[in-house]
Amino acid sequence: MKGIILAGGSGTRLYPITEAISKQLMPIYDKPMIFYPLATLMLAGIRDILVITTPNDQPAFKKLLKDGSQFGISISYVVQPSPDGLAQAFILGEEFIGDDSCAMVLGDNIFYGNGFTELLENARDNAIEGYATIFGNQVKDPERFGIMEIDESESGTYVLSVEEKPLKPKSNYAITGLYFYPKGVAEEAKKIKPSKRGELEITTLNDRYLKKNKLRAEILGEGFTWFDTGTFDSELDAANMIRTIEHNKDKVICCPEQIAYYRGWITKEQLQARADLLKKNTYGQYLQKIVDETK
Ligand code: G1P
Repeated sequence: MKGIILAGGSGTRLYPITEAISKQLMPIYDKPMIFYPLATLMLAGIRDILVITTPNDQPAFKKLLKDGSQFGISISYVVQPSPDGLAQAFILGEEFIGDDSCAMVLGDNIFYGNGFTELLENARDNAIEGYATIFGNQVKDPERFGIMEIDESESGTYVLSVEEKPLKPKSNYAITGLYFYPKGVAEEAKKIKPSKRGELEITTLNDRYLKKNKLRAEILGEGFTWFDTGTFDSELDAANMIRTIEHNKDKVICCPEQIAYYRGWITKEQLQARADLLKKNTYGQYLQKIVDETK
């Protein structure tokens, strides 16, 4: 399975901060924002990742993430010349995806919670079986998001409808920025028409799968945290939350090096090299702790 991180967009909602730097490179406490969605794809077991950015921002992402080998993965890059919608990612990534299934995570979405790995594994299995998967999370301001109307029965969660930022939301389950699709998603994306605001909407793509009875949903339950970090307040809230979790647990969460090492994707020497590079701060000291624990 392939993975895409969509980190485009002009970030105007965060001006002046993002006048000169991409939003997804901004810090969320102790690491760049993009490390969080990267960790999400890695937890799903995805090692072949495409990072889509604006043309201007691509060099900075390359400087940070390189070819991915420090995380035991392969990272490639493509530009999105103009922000024409989330579903465009699959058209831009068509060659990269090839004949594979593909997950996409938005570069500003942070997921953290118990049982996440299992949910991701379910979504992977769905994709192999020919189903797309979306993830729902209850919110207080549903008109700001894509919304799923669902029927929760004993046999599972069924999606009844999906709508992009409806004025009158049919539920308060936001569709989070994490999507899994079976093979053929680029062809599906090419069939959709731009919305009234001129974008190839991910919700239109999801609706295509729904209409074919090929859309499944997972609900992120109690004790699960999801942040769409698009405003000053949500960035600070996310940073405070990460800081609190990390201090309480005495660990670094959503840490790509740790995921890679525990999965056997990088050697102890590679982890040591990262620990040496970052040794001046708690992130690097945490990596050193992992090296020492496994001596
Ligand atoms: C996008 C999607 C929306 C989804 C949200 C999640 O909205 O269009 O369906 O709920 O991401 O982060 P945006 O944040 O780009 O406005």
